[in-house]
Amino acid sequence: MKYPTIAIDGYSSCGKSTLAKDIANALNYVYVDSGAMYRAFTLHLINKGLLKDGAYLKSQVIEELNSAEISFRFNTETQKSETYLNGINVEKDIRSSAISRQVSPISAIGEVRTKMVAIQQQMGLEGRVVMDGRDIGTVVFPNAEVKLFMTASNDIRAQRRIIELHDKGEQITLDDVKKSLAQRDYQDMHREISPLQKAVDAIEIDNSELTRDEQLKLALSIIHQRIETLQFTS
Ligand code: DC
Repeated sequence: MKYPTIAIDGYSSCGKSTLAKDIANALNYVYVDSGAMYRAFTLHLINKGLLKDGAYLKSQVIEELNSAEISFRFNTETQKSETYLNGINVEKDIRSSAISRQVSPISAIGEVRTKMVAIQQQMGLEGRVVMDGRDIGTVVFPNAEVKLFMTASNDIRAQRRIIELHDKGEQITLDDVKKSLAQRDYQDMHREISPLQKAVDAIEIDNSELTRDEQLKLALSIIHQRIETLQFTS
C-alpha cells in the first residue's frame, strides 16, 4: 500500500521545517528538507569559486550539477536528518546568511530544478514522506494527499530568523533580516519556473500567533481528517 505524502510550502522563515520535522516525528514519516538541497548546491558553487557575490555563469552552474552529490543522513545522536555534500556534513554551513542571500537565483535555473525535483520525487516514491519547500504541492507532488501552506507575519518571521542567526554567531540587524526575507520571497514568487504558489487544494496555516505545539496539533488534525476522508493508512 502506498502511504500518504505530506507537502508543506510557504514563504521563507515561516516555520515550515519545524512543523515538517514535528509531523514526521509524530507520525513516524521521513522528513525531507528540499530547501537544503538548493542550499547545498549553492555552497558547492561558492566552494568551487563559481558563485561570488551573487555572480555566476549559468553554463558553469549547469556543468556542476553532476559533481555535487547531495544526500541526507540521520544523526542518531541529535535525532535529526543532516545534509551532506559530496560526503561532507554541511548542515551548519548551508544555513548561513551568505547562502540565504545567493540561493534564490540558483534555485531559479531550470536545469537545477529539474535535477532536484527528480531526486525529491524519487525520495517520495513510497509515500510516508513529509517534504517542505516552495513547489512541493504544485510541482514535486501535485497529487500529495495533504498539502499545507504556511504563512506568518513579516515581523514574526524576521524575529525568528534573527534569533537563529544570532545563535550561530552572525551579527545582523533586524532591518537587514527583514530586507533579505522580503527579497528572497520576491525572487521565489516571481521566478519563471515553478514559482512559490499556494496549491489550489492546500490548506493555509498562519502560525503568527501559534506555539510550536499548537501548530502541530492543528496540522495533525488536518492530516487525520484528510487521511480519513481518503481512507489511507496513516
Ligand atoms: O526553505 P529554504 O529557505 O531553506 O530554501 C532556500 C531556497 O531554496 C529558497 O529561497 C528557494 C529555494 N527552494 C526552492 O526553490 N524550491 C524548494 N522546493 C525549496 C527551496
